[in-house]
Amino acid sequence: MGLGKSEAMTTIPIIQIGVGGVGRELVGQLLGARAVLEARYGFRLEYLALADSAGALASGSPLPEATIHAAMSAKAAGVRLTASPAGRAIQNWAELLPDGPCIVVDVTAAGGHEVPLADAVSDGARVVLANKKPLSAMWSSFVELTSGGATRYEATAGAGLPVIATLQGLLDSGDRMVKIEAAMSGTLGYLCSELEAGVPLSTAVRAAHRMGYTEPDPRDDLSGADVARKALILARTCGLEWELDTIPAEPWFSPKLATVGRDEFMARLEELDAPFAARVAEARAQGAALRYVATITPAGASVGLRAVSADHPLASLRGPDNLFSFTTARYAERPLVVRGPGAGQAVTAAGVLADIVATAREM
Ligand SMILES: NC(=O)c1ccc[n+]([C@@H]2O[C@H](COP(=O)([O-])OP(=O)(O)OC[C@H]3O[C@@H](n4cnc5c(N)ncnc54)[C@H](OP(=O)(O)O)[C@@H]3O)[C@@H](O)[C@H]2O)c1
Repeated sequence: MGLGKSEAMTTIPIIQIGVGGVGRELVGQLLGARAVLEARYGFRLEYLALADSAGALASGSPLPEATIHAAMSAKAAGVRLTASPAGRAIQNWAELLPDGPCIVVDVTAAGGHEVPLADAVSDGARVVLANKKPLSAMWSSFVELTSGGATRYEATAGAGLPVIATLQGLLDSGDRMVKIEAAMSGTLGYLCSELEAGVPLSTAVRAAHRMGYTEPDPRDDLSGADVARKALILARTCGLEWELDTIPAEPWFSPKLATVGRDEFMARLEELDAPFAARVAEARAQGAALRYVATITPAGASVGLRAVSADHPLASLRGPDNLFSFTTARYAERPLVVRGPGAGQAVTAAGVLADIVATAREM
């Protein structure tokens, strides 16, 4: 199915890769918004395929809404798409791409998608990403994906917050980035707030793990690698031709805790309590607050724990909220600040849907 027109209604085919927490929320939001979008813009978003890591819901024509809802309910209960009546096993989601234009939406956290996504772009597809990995692979892939505005990726930085659009707007209007400072991990923000309230790090990490704020292995958050990927995407958006290894991230744990199994890591968390209590006390003695911050300037970037002074916008940040501070040639005296919830399935899916709608309007 290409871009089609039936009774004056343009149909926009969507291929969605990933039906996890964000993916299923996106399906619900997209189907729920269809009638309004049809009335407002005269196009209809049609799911041509939905894929998980093993299979897909696809039949070569638009999927009926009832089929999608049934498969999503089953998926939420742990049933793979291959087990759905319209499901089938696939080797690779790229085999689902139609001949004509479409929007490919990547809401996985999978690596290795940059090449098939770039191939899809060169065949005329448009791309929307919540997945950070395609844009934090090689610089050449970033260029292939984003040149000509083929890819939108707002949700990769601040979930539903207008971070990439704000940065692109500044740059497109001739402004120049001087410095970006950002606290862009909800999980690490939560931990900083708990530490500040006097909670030992071990208690805070276990609570965050229990509440589902962290990845199954909390070291995936505590390594800072996710923040480094976001910092790289912001830097590349500014035109800086950097690779991921140019942005070292400070981990929250020692090298000896990096190699043990997850259960042993969780059992040994108390080893981190005293060093972190000392860092919090040291920051407090300076009248500062401890935050996990990415700092990006044209000369380089760093990602790690910083003691920020009490009058810095980052010091007032609480809990899992994110904050992005853009100092530019025009916003030189006081930075332009974007602040708010930077994680969560509903706001992330909404950021992705806004990108899909903006892309569809261009198509
Ligand atoms: N959650 C948030 O607040 C948030 C905020 C901003 C950005 N994000 C980003 O949004 C993305 C999705 O997050 P999530 O929480 O929804 O993750 P998730 O619940 O783990 O879901 C990931 C989905 O991707 C599928 N998948 C993995 N590898 C695949 C492959 N090679 N081909 C096709 N499908 C594949 C998985 O399939 P199975 O179901 O078969 O495992 C699953 O359906 C991630 O990149 C995340 O970093 C999330």
